[in-house]
Amino acid sequence: MYVKIRFMKSLQKLLMQESFSREEIVRLLSLEGEEKKELFLRSRTVKLTRVGNKVYFRGLIEFSNICAKDCLYCGIRSSNTKVVRYFATDDQILDAARFAFQNQYSSVVLQSGELSTPAFIDRVDNLLKKIKALSDGKLGITLSCGEQTENTYQRWLDSGAHRYLLRIETSNKSLYEKIHPKNEIHRFEKRLEALNSLRRCGYQVGSGMMIGLPFQTLEDMADDLLFLQKIDVDMVGMGPYIEHEDTPLIEYRHLLSPRAERFDLALKMIAVLRLMMPDINIAAATALQAIDPVGREKAVQIGANVIMPNLTPCEYREEYKLYENKPCLDEDAEACKSCLEARISMSGDEIGYGEWGDSRHFARRKNKKK
Ligand code: 5AD
Ligand code: FES
Repeated sequence: MYVKIRFMKSLQKLLMQESFSREEIVRLLSLEGEEKKELFLRSRTVKLTRVGNKVYFRGLIEFSNICAKDCLYCGIRSSNTKVVRYFATDDQILDAARFAFQNQYSSVVLQSGELSTPAFIDRVDNLLKKIKALSDGKLGITLSCGEQTENTYQRWLDSGAHRYLLRIETSNKSLYEKIHPKNEIHRFEKRLEALNSLRRCGYQVGSGMMIGLPFQTLEDMADDLLFLQKIDVDMVGMGPYIEHEDTPLIEYRHLLSPRAERFDLALKMIAVLRLMMPDINIAAATALQAIDPVGREKAVQIGANVIMPNLTPCEYREEYKLYENKPCLDEDAEACKSCLEARISMSGDEIGYGEWGDSRHFARRKNKKK
């Protein structure tokens, strides 16, 4: 009994910290039962005191699934010939952006497979300008189009993008190499350089990883959180890894923990990250919802403050399946919106309509520099 009380006390103390050793993070990621609930209670309190109870919507437009890369985990990898490739028309993309603007989402995320041809770079550049024009400069734009040169990043920033999401996928170089082909375009260092370029250009930078990959350990995940803290990101999107039949990584399916465990681990990662980086924006990844129908709302409860409702034209959604069981394949934007509204208010949070909801961390980082 005495031992138990002492243990509880030290967990209480641990939960009050903002920085943790690798061992401490592993301990937090291993919590179960009542102790896990305490972690979640603490991360919710930190969220409410540091970023408030507002959830910001970013309308997600998956505008193309054409990808030059061949990541071993991803359903739209270039070698997957089962996927019908598409590039939405400018009008479709602008319509989706207009929907976001008219519904006071205040931001869109333009996401695609990775291409770096001049035609692709020009097209994105042109779309950025058009989206800015249709919203009188008011709609915020996040890009998620993979690794590009610093020049391209700068050009897109100048044309209106102000946030960029580029997940590191895993901060463990040897694990990164196991889940990517071994060639020049899939180098770990290249990914790190791209994150540095984004930072130098002045973007609000987002990164993140997949949780529950084959070969990944709790120590790797602890290192992932320490990595995010070290590179001082402004935004994070991380979610469970979900296997996909038509990818090489399916070979290691037998090594995976059950989906429910990966889900649980993803929630704990979000909670611990909220303790470590209290004022960043954390997205409730769509992959959470692929495992649990109310997965994103659960993430919001315990620390996330951004949700990305899908605004991709319905005709393309089936072809943007990065993983199995991807949700909302047939719900149009309007349906997605009302469904989310109801669920968010049930959990005591509020939607930050009409506000950019920029990362407070980014503002603090910029002010420090002045
Ligand atoms: N399971 C979960 N997430 C995935 N992603 C790609 N493939 C999968 C998968 N099988 C994530 C990657 C990528 C983001 C756009 O989608 O982290 O950065
Ligand atoms: Fe497209 Fe990884 S498969 S970027």
